[in-house]
Amino acid sequence: MASRRIPIVAGNWKMNFDHLEATYFVQKLAWILRDAHFGFRRCEVTLMPPFTSIRSVQVLIEADRLKITYGAQAVSVTNQGAFTGDVSADMLARLGCTYVLVGHSERRKYHPEDDANIVDQVRAVLAAGMKPILCVGESFEERRQGIELEYAVGQVQDVIRDLNDKEAEQMVIAYEPVWAIGTGMVATPQSAQEAAAAIRTHLGEVYGDDVAQRVRILYGGSVNASNATQLMQEGLDIDGFLVGGASLDADEFATIARLTDKAASARR
Ligand code: 13P
Repeated sequence: MASRRIPIVAGNWKMNFDHLEATYFVQKLAWILRDAHFGFRRCEVTLMPPFTSIRSVQVLIEADRLKITYGAQAVSVTNQGAFTGDVSADMLARLGCTYVLVGHSERRKYHPEDDANIVDQVRAVLAAGMKPILCVGESFEERRQGIELEYAVGQVQDVIRDLNDKEAEQMVIAYEPVWAIGTGMVATPQSAQEAAAAIRTHLGEVYGDDVAQRVRILYGGSVNASNATQLMQEGLDIDGFLVGGASLDADEFATIARLTDKAASARR
């Protein structure tokens, strides 16, 4: 059952790469993956550029029929109107976005995004026909108290509780412990697997095993080409990665994608 999930390697560029840099990056990544005969059907590679670069990424991907997918890092909960600076889910869907990041810890920290708002973002993304990548994960404080699993599972529970089976299946969940983001302190393969398994168990309790086995669960937080394989090998619940810093280097990001594909293929 687990082997049916297509892994995802997602690059969250955060506030990096203007549209010219984005164009250069996508071309370079495409060349590297083509030379490596990368199997996009076995492993999905997706990029999350800043809003201003999405259109350039779309044009390039469509013109060259690249198999890379892309998405956005944030979304408004409303569809149109007097919301200065916001971007709606419909606008992103029209740009061909497949995914939208929801609930990233940097959004929770720097913007007024609480659970209720995140639930509305998930609804907006699903209604526009895209897939939310819901980010959850404990800070150092919860880990110190030994409540990291309850915390991460609780965040999932708070957001997905009102979704129906069909909607829940569309979710991608990224377990990203806050203390591991941008710090070089990666979770141990055991603790990343344990968290992913706890989240999957919860999904199974709410939606049944069928849905739980379809949802892709990613790990994020200081992932690089040196730790990706081990993180995939610990168990069967991690279905790829949400990569920040290492996604800004096309060679390293391509290597992470190849290692993820290899580790996932070994499970089949
Ligand atoms: P780093 O890979 O730079 O730790 O960032 C992780 C992240 O926040 C991805 O969303």
